Amino acid sequence: MAFSDTFLDELAARCDIYEIVSRYVTLKKSGSNWFGLCPFHTEKTGSFSVNTEKQIYHCFGCGAGGSVYNFIMQIENLTFPEAVEFLANLAGVPLPAQDAGVSDNRKRLLELNRDAARFFYQTLSSPEGRVGYEYLLGRGLKPGTIKRYGLGFAPDSWDSLLNAMTEKGYTKSELRELGLIKPNQRGGFYDQFRNRVMFPIIDIRGNVIAFGGRVMDDSKPKYLNSPETKLFSKSRNLFSLNFAKKSASRRLILAEGYMDVIALNQAGFTEAVASLGTALTQEQAKLMKRFADEVVISYDADNAGQNAAARAAEILKPADLKVRILKIPGAKDPDEFIREHGREAFSALLERSEDHMEFTLERIRNNFDLTTDEGRVGFLKEAAKALARLSSPIEREIYASRAAESGNVGKDALLSEIERNRRAYLRRVKNEETRRLLSPEKSVQPVSRALRYEDVRTARAEEGIIALLSREPAFAQTLQAAGIGPEDFTSPFLKKICAFLLEQAQAGNSVSSGALSQFLAPEEMSELGRILSAPDMGDHQSAGRDYIRIIQETQAKHAVASGEDPLLAMRDLHKEKKSYGGSLS
Ligand code: CTP
Ligand code: MN
Repeated sequence: MAFSDTFLDELAARCDIYEIVSRYVTLKKSGSNWFGLCPFHTEKTGSFSVNTEKQIYHCFGCGAGGSVYNFIMQIENLTFPEAVEFLANLAGVPLPAQDAGVSDNRKRLLELNRDAARFFYQTLSSPEGRVGYEYLLGRGLKPGTIKRYGLGFAPDSWDSLLNAMTEKGYTKSELRELGLIKPNQRGGFYDQFRNRVMFPIIDIRGNVIAFGGRVMDDSKPKYLNSPETKLFSKSRNLFSLNFAKKSASRRLILAEGYMDVIALNQAGFTEAVASLGTALTQEQAKLMKRFADEVVISYDADNAGQNAAARAAEILKPADLKVRILKIPGAKDPDEFIREHGREAFSALLERSEDHMEFTLERIRNNFDLTTDEGRVGFLKEAAKALARLSSPIEREIYASRAAESGNVGKDALLSEIERNRRAYLRRVKNEETRRLLSPEKSVQPVSRALRYEDVRTARAEEGIIALLSREPAFAQTLQAAGIGPEDFTSPFLKKICAFLLEQAQAGNSVSSGALSQFLAPEEMSELGRILSAPDMGDHQSAGRDYIRIIQETQAKHAVASGEDPLLAMRDLHKEKKSYGGSLS
């Protein structure tokens, strides 16, 4: 069930995008748009724009964008129906009765995941799951910890979960949507997770959104995780944040793996989270900032782990988090360290954890031989570059003293080198952002891979048509006269948007991005935001002619490729050109 267009438009009209965005972002007027610092990525120059006329937002830096609904979805981490509910509450508008069941599908999927988690959990304590239970105990987990995390076991069978869940009334398509089953060659399905201990991934609201499953031997892959689904976005969640958010301190410990976090929890460090096996993202950093001011990175002791820690620090710092990096002597990871040395020892490591700059300086120091002049120069130059990125002059001064000492030079010499580097650094950052801001056209492809254009030139013309349609609904007639419709579009999502806009134009409705957010995926809305934010170059007639010509040329090319008479195709093209040319003037 969906919301009616009318309801969505009315609600959007009451929730002016400028008003809503201003609750989160400071906006300044520039030309006909408002600009501010993008809340979805880290930047120094505002490339985040709000267009009150079209009621859309768009970031030229990261590509985020869409209607007021998309903004709320993105910033509050909500689904579309939840965002509608959120805004309705804010505006004091009651939800229409028939819209109440709108998030039914999501609710069912959440229930399915919960039932699957229950199934795995129960299996763990059945004879079939004995091997899994023994495995977890063997890794030092106590029964209470296993229960607290709802750890489970996926049986060594092709259809245990499939049968148990279909018996409960769930459909195969629901199971498949959550990545719990996969299609086989013969048109049937099989369980995705088999013979693995199972880690449910739970979001901050207590929903089971995904699973990780570990083998109990050395086979590969060691961990299997749920795919991205309607419920689960890997880059926006952190394992165990549901527990960590309750911890009283505004500090989080960031580890690499499931087992590290669980071991830390068992030892009393409930503020531990893990980034679900990928490089840390800006979204995860922002999520952490909601619950913490300081993050102690506690990654694996090996080189890969330490490099990942340095990269994670670079992501966390701009989110305004204090970063410390913990080093584990003589052990592989926090899990192993705690098992060998216990809680107190880890506590001591935490206290001794280095702040990020010390860690960075040490990494640089290790690359040079400080007993030679050449090595010292190299070290000081690199150190100056790293310190130039610190935004606080006090911090720059303090670390400069330390680095100057190691390099055996006067602090002032180093400080002036740092200042020189800092000016260059700020210029670079600014230039990069300005470049992005001035040439949004540079990124000719949608941000989301799934939406990538196969034929960029034609897709750009299609984008142009969409922008024109939204500026001048009457352009629909020109299109019609030229015999161009959504079916001629090469990009599937642009086709959808075009069909919607034409429908609205036909019904005499004004074009509303609010109603569109219901039919388009958030990534698609972002792209629409980009398309509609492109500057209006004026001269709509000649622009329209160019777009139509490009689409027709592409069609003719395809006609030729598919064996149609090339002469006929070209003649038709010529005819079309003339006819719309006439109708425009
Ligand atoms: N990971 C993954 N898929 C893999 C390997 C790892 O998703 N094939 C993720 C998991 O979240 C894992 C984390 O990356 O917890 C860290 O990987 P690794 O250090 O290899 O595993 P550990 O956490 O040490 O796991 P264990 O202690 O169970 O061996
Ligand atoms: Mn481990």
